[in-house]
Formats: sequence, structure tokens, C-alpha cells
Amino acid sequence: MPVAHEEFLTYFAEAPDGSRFDELDLSRVPRHIAVIMDGNGRWAAQRGLARGYGHAAGVAALREVITACVRLGVRALTVYAFSTENWNRPQEEVNLLMSLFASTLIDELPLMHREGVRLKYLGEMDDLPDDTRETFERGLRETADHTGMTLAVAVNYGSRAEMLRATRALARRCVAGEMRPEDIDEAAFSSELYTSPLPDPDLLIRTSGEERLSNFLLWQLSYTELVFTDVLWPDFTRWDLVRAIVEFQGRHRRYGGVEDGA
Ligand code: IPE
Ligand code: IPE
Ligand code: MG
Repeated sequence: MPVAHEEFLTYFAEAPDGSRFDELDLSRVPRHIAVIMDGNGRWAAQRGLARGYGHAAGVAALREVITACVRLGVRALTVYAFSTENWNRPQEEVNLLMSLFASTLIDELPLMHREGVRLKYLGEMDDLPDDTRETFERGLRETADHTGMTLAVAVNYGSRAEMLRATRALARRCVAGEMRPEDIDEAAFSSELYTSPLPDPDLLIRTSGEERLSNFLLWQLSYTELVFTDVLWPDFTRWDLVRAIVEFQGRHRRYGGVEDGA
């Protein structure tokens, strides 16, 4: 646990449902949690607001989840913020999201310094607007020496694009005579993915009631436990996170084998 136990208890003290916390096994917290942060638009629509208000409210939920994951001793948190398909949204919304990513990153740098969080970027950075790209580059540079939790942010990320990119990289190495096609194994492929060298996620959470992956981490989620919740992302709290972890802890991961003693 990276923080004092007392501080931990204080942070999780206002449980609306204390029993959940009792069920949480702190020795079996997932090492790597991935989140599809969905439902911002519907959250805003429910309040008669423009979608942008939902995205802004989503930033506060992300801040809470980052802090909670640090408190829980999670080693890596990967969040899906913008897919390769999200460019199909109205230009105004895309612009708003791109500037929100930049301003959020700058606002959250002090938190990342305080908690020792290291930023990682997943996706194709070259296609981002200059100021957004430069902000990510700055965040990566300034947190490179941090040794706490890794926060991987997927922006302009698509799993199919990621796998094609890895395939091209391996093909180039074969053509250059650096490796043989027979040498291409799971480890070699994984090492060319944006997520390298992170371990595969143990737990994936998708909010807003949608039960699909939307082109997220298709290779890496092969044996990940999936938890879907109806909560819209801006409403997602540390308690919803704990609930998802408790559900994860109740699952039996068999990896194709059989249960011990079965
Ligand atoms: C997720 O919320 C944020 C992004 C995809 C950027 P949405 O914007 O998809 O919200 P809904 O799904 O329309 O409610
Ligand atoms: C997935 O959400 C992408 C992110 C959360 C960034 P979408 O809202 O774009 O996914 P679909 O369109 O419902 O599949
Ligand atoms: Mg959505």
C-alpha cells in the first residue's frame, strides 16, 4: 500500500454502503484496471445540457478514480478517452474534447507529481492538434521518472489500428533480416503494441450500460474480467470502483484450465 493505512481509511470513510468495503480484499486488488469512460453525453442530455458539460463532468470522475486507484495500490490504470472512430463526431465536439484533454492534463500534473503517477499515451499522437499533442509530450516528459501508478490515456486509439501497426513493425524487422517469421510469438507481438510493457488488464470496467468493447484493447483483454455498470461516467465514484473490484474478486479466473481441486 503506497499510503498510510489511516489516510486510506479516511479516503474511503464516507461509504454510502459500508458492507462493500468490508468485502474488499486489499491483498487481491487488480494490478491493472482499464476503463471505458462512457455516458458523458447522456449524462448531459438528462440535465438538458449540451454534451460538452458531460465531458467536463467526466473529468471530475476521472480525477476521483485516479486518486482511488492510487490509494488502493493499483499499478496501472488505462482509460479510453477518444477512439479512432470518435473523429466522426461533430467537429465542434471533437474540438472541445481535444482542448479538454490538453487543459485537463495541465490541471492534473500537480496531482500526478504529488502521487508519483507516470503518464503513458496510447494511440497515434501525430494526428492530434498541435497544442494537444504538445501537452501530452510535456506530460510524458515531466512524469517520466515517477515510479508510482502508470496512468495510460488512450486518445486517438483503436485496437485494430494498433494491431496493424504492430504487424507492420514486425514485418519490417523480418524484411530487414532482424528476425524470422517463426520468431513472431505473443511476446514479440505484445512488445509492438502501444500498451507495452504494461501487463494485460485484470479488470475492464465500462460505464453507461453499453456492453461492447468499441475497438478497445482487443488483444490485451483476452483473459480480462469484464464488469459493466449502468452508472454514467460523470456519476462514477470511488464506491462504484470498489463495487467493480469486489465483483472482480468474486470471479474465478481459469485461463482455460480447471479450478484447483475441481
Ligand atoms: C464518452 O461519453 C466520452 C467519449 C467517447 C469521448 P460519450 O460522449 O460517448 O457519451 P454518450 O455515450 O453519448 O452518452
Ligand atoms: C467508446 O465510447 C470510446 C470512449 C469511451 C472513448 P463510444 O461512445 O465512442 O462508443 P460507441 O459508439 O457507443 O460504441
Ligand atoms: Mg458513448
